[in-house]
Amino acid sequence: MSKRYTITAALPYTNGPIHIGHLAGVYVPADIYARYKRLTGNDVAFICGSDEHGVPITIKAKNEGVTPQEIVDRYHKIIKDSFEEFGISFDNYSRTSAKIHHDTASEFFKTLYDKNEFVEEVTEQLYDEEAKQFLADRFVIGTCPKCGNEESYGDQCEKCGTSHNATDLINPKSAITGNTPTLKETKHWFLPLNKHENFLREWILKGHKKDWKPNVYGQVKSWIDDGLRPRAVTRDLDWGIPVPVEGGEGKVLYVWFDAPIGYISSTKEWAEREGKDWEPYWKDQDTKLVHFIGKDNIVFHCIIFPSMLKAEGSYILPDNVPANEFLNLEGNKLSTSKNWAVWLPEYLKDFPGKQDVLRYALTANAPETKDNDFTWKDFQARNNNELVAIFGNFINRVVVLTNKYYNGIVPMPSTFTAIDEETLAAVKAYPAVIESSLERYRFREASQELMNLARLGNKYLADEEPWKLVKTDEARTQTIMYVALQIASALATLSEPFLPFTSTKLKQILNVTSSAVEMSWSDISTKDVLLPANHQIGQSELLFNKIEDKDIQIQLDKLEASKKANEAANKKVEPQKYTITFDDFTKLDLRVGTIIEAEKMPKAKKLLVLKVDTGIDVRTIVSGIAESFTAEEVVGKQVTVLVNLAPRALRGVESEGMILMTENAEGDLVFVNPDTTVKNGLQIS
Ligand code: 2FM
Ligand code: ZN
Repeated sequence: MSKRYTITAALPYTNGPIHIGHLAGVYVPADIYARYKRLTGNDVAFICGSDEHGVPITIKAKNEGVTPQEIVDRYHKIIKDSFEEFGISFDNYSRTSAKIHHDTASEFFKTLYDKNEFVEEVTEQLYDEEAKQFLADRFVIGTCPKCGNEESYGDQCEKCGTSHNATDLINPKSAITGNTPTLKETKHWFLPLNKHENFLREWILKGHKKDWKPNVYGQVKSWIDDGLRPRAVTRDLDWGIPVPVEGGEGKVLYVWFDAPIGYISSTKEWAEREGKDWEPYWKDQDTKLVHFIGKDNIVFHCIIFPSMLKAEGSYILPDNVPANEFLNLEGNKLSTSKNWAVWLPEYLKDFPGKQDVLRYALTANAPETKDNDFTWKDFQARNNNELVAIFGNFINRVVVLTNKYYNGIVPMPSTFTAIDEETLAAVKAYPAVIESSLERYRFREASQELMNLARLGNKYLADEEPWKLVKTDEARTQTIMYVALQIASALATLSEPFLPFTSTKLKQILNVTSSAVEMSWSDISTKDVLLPANHQIGQSELLFNKIEDKDIQIQLDKLEASKKANEAANKKVEPQKYTITFDDFTKLDLRVGTIIEAEKMPKAKKLLVLKVDTGIDVRTIVSGIAESFTAEEVVGKQVTVLVNLAPRALRGVESEGMILMTENAEGDLVFVNPDTTVKNGLQIS
């Protein structure tokens, strides 16, 4: 039965591009679901937009010396364009800096204010005296009171997912100056979550919501069981939506108060453009509201936003929140700051036309019930062994043979054998099989069922061998090809939610884009004929191409480069030694010299015996660099020498000075020398 669906995908923060973690966790499953719901005849509003407020954006702007507006303008465009090119079929992609959003969020706040749904309170909040700023959310880092993570943010611990108040942090430090904050009084508006505890318990724990994913249900239950407390929904910041009530001057709405309202304002924007009424999508009890999010957003979508909607009074509540776990990359946590990620815009550049390959690899390996790992080898295998070898191969054989035997005209079948009947019946069952997985938000399983249909086609052809019968049994060959074409036709429609670009291409190849032969999802199980005899199909075109090792190596090399850069950046720098006077410094006689001879010290792994022209004399210096340089390599090098170091004997050779060395980014020893050749003996001062 047709229904109305409001499907939302978490609004991404506009402080960086989208990466595969976002895609696997939120946008690919949401898009599959939205496409599937549209294909099955429902009225769908698939809603998203940029989350442009919040501290991460201000921090990025500060770091780059630009305004927050410049940051959000830049990333809003990058994110929107890449979603579009990737084929995410949002009905609307808005942004929270839009006027319609400011108005909607302000109005929402005012309604709750007028209904006395907030507690207004002056409390002591963390304050950075040096930065002259209150510290909340990501402006403060400290130890999580729940799990002991020492790098928890003020509003949420990324390790255990707990959402807390900044003052709950143990040993808080300002993320701006590193200072320990003081406490300062300020007024804020709090949403008394404790007041909504019974409703939430009823709604989530006892009600029909037991079919929620166990990871979501478990987290929410544990938060409620721990006891809910009032949460401040305003902040002393200057980037955000101004608090629209008396006393709110200089304050803005908490980003997690305004962001989910972004789903509503984006729906309004879409409805206005399409000439529709937005309200049924948010207020009609028959509408199904589904939020696609990552697990770090669970508390906001299952506790805070529903409490806001309930307090407002006229809205429906989410029917389901199918949150995913996290995706790791090559065994490590995805990290924007460490550049440990596969960025969507880069992927689109490196793999043009291969949107469906990434969609498929991420879906087949989606982090649905536990964190999962993305590896480039798995990506290659999913493409080469499944998309190319199974799906692509089946379609190619059917289309090539139909063109070869019948000039591309679907042949007339004769009597069906038991195998044919069984195969056609199996095809008819596929929509229900895939639906059953999708209805339970099991996208991995659904994608594998789709691949099983292609497997069925391959097996059918391999067993029936039309290429052998074509010379001896024309009627049987026609029937086999007819059946195979029905499978190809079902694949063209059923693949649409998972592989939208492939589905379009396949429909073009099969020439089924006109309404006379166009097929809906339900036709597959209800119609006996999907592709009628005498229908003309087009020429074969490869749906997928093999991905070579060299293409994968380029990606692995990129990650290796990130790893090296991180290691270099994280290398512990020795703390500064105690202070010396200028007189102490002048005691050091540092000069430029040139190594004129070198030989390995016998039986000493690390030592080279050098003859160095110091400009004053030629002297012997024993240096511990033999594991990094050969004797030949160092001859002729200009170096810095500490010439007045007291001589000392090393393995019986008197060393009269020291060559200064340091390390490069890779940790290899390098000489400290002038950046141009200078006269030996020149002093360094
Ligand atoms: O975690 C995030 O990236 C948030 N910007 C998600 C917001 S979802 C919604 F509530 F807007
Ligand atoms: Zn924690």
